[in-house]
Amino acid sequence: TPPVAPFAISFDHEAARLEPEGPTLTRRMSDLEGLFADHEAWQAAVADGDPVVYRVQSSPVPEVDRELPQSITTIEPGTTGGELWMTKGHQHPNHQGEIYLGLHGAGGLLMYDGTRHEWIDMAPGTIGYIPPGWAHRSVNTGDEPYSFLAVYPGGAGHDYGWVLEHGMGARAYRTASGHELRPWS
Ligand code: F6R
Ligand code: ZN
Repeated sequence: TPPVAPFAISFDHEAARLEPEGPTLTRRMSDLEGLFADHEAWQAAVADGDPVVYRVQSSPVPEVDRELPQSITTIEPGTTGGELWMTKGHQHPNHQGEIYLGLHGAGGLLMYDGTRHEWIDMAPGTIGYIPPGWAHRSVNTGDEPYSFLAVYPGGAGHDYGWVLEHGMGARAYRTASGHELRPWS
């Protein structure tokens, strides 16, 4: 793929959209198999309408080495077996860094390097930095959609199997007063 020519991307903060548009990815509950601790609650949610959990909308910058793609993820509010709705989570196989910028709502950025986990509370204006080698998952901790912008190296790659194999170190649950992290189960 030849490098793309310079172009302007309009960042619609209010709508949490990038224009021009590249691919949009929709992740339904059925796409999150094996990720929630409560398998029966997950199955019930799939049977009960298989709701959209999150969408990822990208600008047209390709995911190839040396390019710098961006995307906006919007996670719907909700819980499954008490566990807050979240992204699948992945590791970048080439161990490259990434930044997230909080746009709307309240969320968390859970990171795990295989030994330690870290959590960053994400609010509008927060930049969460993901260092190379840290798997990452985003969580909606609020009761409205949570959106953030991601900017990452095009050659980073996305390894979803890593999370299925190693976990994320912790899980985020809804509590009466907000949310809490519990040890991986
Ligand atoms: C890109 C990145 C985000 C996520 C998006 C969806 O490297 O970290 O754009 O891809 O938030 O999460 P996943 O990819 O885990 O389904
Ligand atoms: Zn990433």
